[in-house]
Amino acid sequence: MDYNFSVVPLLFTKKFALARKMFRGFRRLWLARYLPKHDYGFNHLQRLGLVYFKLTPLCNLHCVMCGQRGVKGMLMGKFAADEARTILSFEDYKPVVDELARYRIITYLWGGEPFLYPDLMPLAKYMVEKGLYVSVNTNGTMLEHYAEQIVRDKWSTIFVSLDAFRDVNDSIRGKGSYDHVIRGFEALNREKRRRNSTYPILGVVTTVTNQNYLYLERLAEAMREYDIEVHLFNLGTYTNDAIVARQRQFMLEKLDTNIECLEGYNTGFNTGIDAQKLYNILQDIHRKDWGHPMITVPALNPEKIRVYYDELEVPVRNHCVVPWCQADINYNGDVHFCADYPDYILGNIKNQTFGEIFNGERANRFRKTINACEGGMFPGCLRCYQNMLFGNKIRGF
Ligand SMILES: C[S@@+](CC[C@H](N)C(=O)[O-])C[C@H]1O[C@@H](n2cnc3c(N)ncnc32)[C@H](O)[C@@H]1O
Ligand code: SF4
Repeated sequence: MDYNFSVVPLLFTKKFALARKMFRGFRRLWLARYLPKHDYGFNHLQRLGLVYFKLTPLCNLHCVMCGQRGVKGMLMGKFAADEARTILSFEDYKPVVDELARYRIITYLWGGEPFLYPDLMPLAKYMVEKGLYVSVNTNGTMLEHYAEQIVRDKWSTIFVSLDAFRDVNDSIRGKGSYDHVIRGFEALNREKRRRNSTYPILGVVTTVTNQNYLYLERLAEAMREYDIEVHLFNLGTYTNDAIVARQRQFMLEKLDTNIECLEGYNTGFNTGIDAQKLYNILQDIHRKDWGHPMITVPALNPEKIRVYYDELEVPVRNHCVVPWCQADINYNGDVHFCADYPDYILGNIKNQTFGEIFNGERANRFRKTINACEGGMFPGCLRCYQNMLFGNKIRGF
């Protein structure tokens, strides 16, 4: 199966300036695996490659497997509405964008649904103007409305989530969502043609669950029509009661932190997947020429797909590199290392610079703690998406 960097060389031939920017960020994420893992007295900003901006806790969908808003998600109802009162303004973000622009990193704007963040358009425009690589991950339901501005403002990449062809997708992501996305693709492509623009790169992200794994090729086929430039199959983040309990105890003991977020991924949508069938489907997809790269994360050996879904206690990647090269800024300004598990707070960008936080005492405490773990990973991180993307491949997987 393809690996995560296969998109960069292809991009170089088509969009040199953008590829160079992407390469600079990716290179640091890749190098982080091989460089010493300092936990004290080192300027970690030299290694920073990627910063996530989780712009809002709100979303207009309830995708079943979603760790935030799915069957076990906590960003729901009144809690999410109360949290939304804490979101940062565009003015709050400006200093951190100015600071991060110096490091030429990749930024990734997400949520919740980023198009529900009221200042998304001025913020993304400002980031592009500052020279950052700006990628946005969206459910695509509002894409049609914003297509013109997105192309005009030259966003680098837009990753749109689709989990299957129409009916199956809608059973996971909500009625009508597929057709909304398709209208968004059409509007985006129309606008790109009208302006003769190659911005943004258009990507599709598919999260594999027991609900959609049999229908992946039908989706890939349908995407042929829409000038997709990369299609990513994310094998999904899952956990179980025992792993959540272990992580809860560990984080309390070692980092005085009460965890809330991991439970959102304890959904059971990993169960009952016929691993051989899924492997064959993915292989067929990877063998065909779709005109754009197909990337599976994590890329696994065939017999390990069963382990990935059925034996959640077995690590498939280890030695997490996230605390050395990545961070997530939450909607309220709190900075975390783990984008999907914003429990351990490193600091808040309203009170400190990003650099002070990333090199701060709490950040180094986290690094020291993870360095001391067997396999360089906490007990709850076994299927963490960030670790699947950039963690160390365990022999045999
Ligand atoms: C949480 S969403 C936020 C951005 C936007 N609302 C969207 O749906 O694209 C980010 C990505 O996580 C994916 N996702 C949802 N549940 C997941 C899970 N259990 N494991 C891995 N990825 C998941 C979504 O499909 C989406 O591609
Ligand atoms: S659209 Fe995104 S944030 Fe909203 S429920 Fe679906 S995956 Fe979660």
